[in-house]
Amino acid sequence: MGNCFGSEEAEDAAVAAVKAPAPGRLQSTEAAATTRRGRMGAAPSSAHAPMSAGHAGRSSSFTSSSSRSSHVPSVSGSVEVAGAPPYPEQPEGMILEAPNLRIFTFAELKAATRNFKPDTVLGEGGFGRVYKGWVDEKTMNPARSGTGMVIAVKKLNPESVQGLQEWQSEVDFLGRLSHPNLVRLLGYCVEDSELLLVYEFMAKGSLENHLFRKGSSYQPISWSLRLRIAIGAARGLAFLHSSEKQIIYRDFKASNILLDTHYNAKLSDFGLAKNGPTGGDSHVTTRVLGTYGYAAPEYVATGHLYVKSDVYGFGVVLLEMLTGLRALDTGRPAPQHSLVDWAKPYLADRRRLARLVDPRLEGQCPSRAALQAAQLTLRCLSGDPKSRPSMAEVVDALEEIERIKARPKAALASREEDASPRVSARSAGGGHASHAHVHGHHRHHSPRPRSGSDGARSGHPSARVR
Ligand SMILES: Nc1ncnc2c1ncn2[C@@H]1O[C@H](COP(=O)(O)OP(=O)(O)OP(=O)(O)O)[C@@H](O)[C@H]1O
Ligand SMILES: [Mg+2]
Repeated sequence: MGNCFGSEEAEDAAVAAVKAPAPGRLQSTEAAATTRRGRMGAAPSSAHAPMSAGHAGRSSSFTSSSSRSSHVPSVSGSVEVAGAPPYPEQPEGMILEAPNLRIFTFAELKAATRNFKPDTVLGEGGFGRVYKGWVDEKTMNPARSGTGMVIAVKKLNPESVQGLQEWQSEVDFLGRLSHPNLVRLLGYCVEDSELLLVYEFMAKGSLENHLFRKGSSYQPISWSLRLRIAIGAARGLAFLHSSEKQIIYRDFKASNILLDTHYNAKLSDFGLAKNGPTGGDSHVTTRVLGTYGYAAPEYVATGHLYVKSDVYGFGVVLLEMLTGLRALDTGRPAPQHSLVDWAKPYLADRRRLARLVDPRLEGQCPSRAALQAAQLTLRCLSGDPKSRPSMAEVVDALEEIERIKARPKAALASREEDASPRVSARSAGGGHASHAHVHGHHRHHSPRPRSGSDGARSGHPSARVR
């Protein structure tokens, strides 16, 4: 297709400073105005015309890595992956010459989702609601609910400021990318003012839900599963970074890591993706977009976007996985709003590390693994992009951590003689922060943030920079 991984000239032209974060969806005033004018006002690009070739079975380029593993709830009630090798062998992925997508009519998607019935809603983000639908596996025509293939349909909310440009970006980038750790975009619909995207259905929802949501449908996920998810997501990012044009994802966060039936991780949402620098430049300059709490500091401060800006976001998610706490939570006491600011000193200190680890991981996380994960997280969160590891290095480091097996009594949280204090799992099930119980000599100084809105907040918790 003509629009080769979009140039975003308008965006490049306007580097807007980000105002101080406030609850809810955020953007600088200038950015907001640009977004509404530039994105929502324009007609859909005619560059999409070649895609009308229809759906041609991109599935052939994917192996179903997920089918080789299965999950069972562990004895402790946290979700565990049984038996399987650390992570299934992955094909390398590919970038297609042109998007190969099925064009749906609005009527088809209406039928597939039972008229966008509220009980088919899977979630809601800045773009709009995401619905569950059913189509025939071969023809992709709407099917009766419960039959055929399940799909996820993202429907633009007319009020959304994300709109057209992100929709276009999703089609341009994700429509051409094929990798086991990237969600498959199956097709789209553009009709009058309706913009929709159709994805493969990710049965276990987002990592964000599993880490932070309360309720019986969200069991805490085990340490080994967290590592598997981290490795999968890291492979997805490494694939993007290793491509010829070095795709920068720009919106790495827990809600954009989706999980299939077997908890294989796949990145979704390429609305902010951008081609990396060319001609020997170290960065591209763009308007600051992304999500507070995850965006790299140099990018927020200057609009200079590096490939390594994604690595910072990865470090934030790793920290969320390690702690079970949200990157940003204004429901916590002020000094703890930012997880990174609060947690960094603990990551660097072996003796204090145990107090940081999610109490729901009690007895599962070998202390050496926690230590190495903390060191890796710190490197990813380095203030200087050049000091951050590449995503390929991150994958290697995580695989090494995965090989560390718990020795009897060696798991971080159950080792009485360890210099680290013990963290109990009294808060298992989501109410972690305020109930976290620290045993040992640091017990009266638990540094873990009070829960604030962690896990309990409804609506959309990540304030996005728009
Ligand atoms: N392919 C999918 N399969 C299953 N559920 C999905 C799929 N895509 C999205 N969802 C669900 O819909 C929710 C909203 O997703 P969406 O990408 O619109 O917003 P978000 O990532 O939470 O926020 P933002 O708009 O800031 O990126 C997800 O958290 C997830 O639970
Ligand atoms: Mg998303």
